[in-house]
Amino acid sequence: MPITGVVDLSGIEENQEVVAKWHRLSHWRDVGFMALVRHIRAMFLYRTHYWLSDRRFESLEKIATRGTVYKNDLSPVNATHADLSYEYGASPRLIADWLLDALEEDLNRYSFIDYGSGRGRVLLTAAGRPFRSVHGIEFCDALHKQAEINIAGYPDQHLVCQDVQSVCCDALDYALPDSDCILYFFNPFKEVLLDKVVRKSLETARANQRRIIIIYYNAKHDQPLVNNTGLKSRPLSPVAWLKLKLLSPHPVQIYDMITD
Ligand SMILES: C[S@@+](CC[C@H](N)C(=O)[O-])C[C@H]1O[C@@H](n2cnc3c(N)ncnc32)[C@H](O)[C@@H]1O
Repeated sequence: MPITGVVDLSGIEENQEVVAKWHRLSHWRDVGFMALVRHIRAMFLYRTHYWLSDRRFESLEKIATRGTVYKNDLSPVNATHADLSYEYGASPRLIADWLLDALEEDLNRYSFIDYGSGRGRVLLTAAGRPFRSVHGIEFCDALHKQAEINIAGYPDQHLVCQDVQSVCCDALDYALPDSDCILYFFNPFKEVLLDKVVRKSLETARANQRRIIIIYYNAKHDQPLVNNTGLKSRPLSPVAWLKLKLLSPHPVQIYDMITD
């Protein structure tokens, strides 16, 4: 028999809230207790970085990069990959510094590319080093515009690299500069897109006889890198390893391109 009559929608928001809570609870029940402990530790360290360090850097350097922009609010310029993206949140400044300090290369030979650069915190951290160029690739126009404002207002005395740009495009549409490159990923998108972007970058580098180093921060979805036979994981120095192990909210990994 067909159902007729008026559907009573009162209380639907409360119900949705209950359902959301239940989903969160069942999520943690599914992934397990240790995953919940790791999550709480990560949140605690992320907030500690914010209160003790990131806030101070932001006011000293006159930039605004903090905050979270959730996936549904990202409004990408190219919607093809909207479903594959993760939310915006900036890397803790000290972690980005330590990761860059862990590189022993002559940075003058390298361009630095932050895939999914958001408001530009890592971009500007890298710009304090002598890279050939520093590019941030961001597909959300509002975040890209904020990054441009941050770059324009950044105190000159902190800029060592003069070619610093936020580029508003999809990660897969960006063409690498013709130089050795360091690629930085802070969990910008899902594995399927990460795989495509990494493969494309390696192909370009091989065709131009260039070298690539990949820094992967929040290395939770790293199967495309682990499984890529063109890459090998690079151990950190004991001091860098210890600092990052103890104080980084998220796991980190550095990969080298295997050259013939
Ligand atoms: C977790 S944030 C990282 C921000 C910055 N890299 C940092 O470490 O401070 C990830 C960023 O990737 C961007 N993003 C996601 N998918 C993208 C895509 N397909 N192309 C370009 N940017 C993308 C998001 O808009 C977001 O700003």
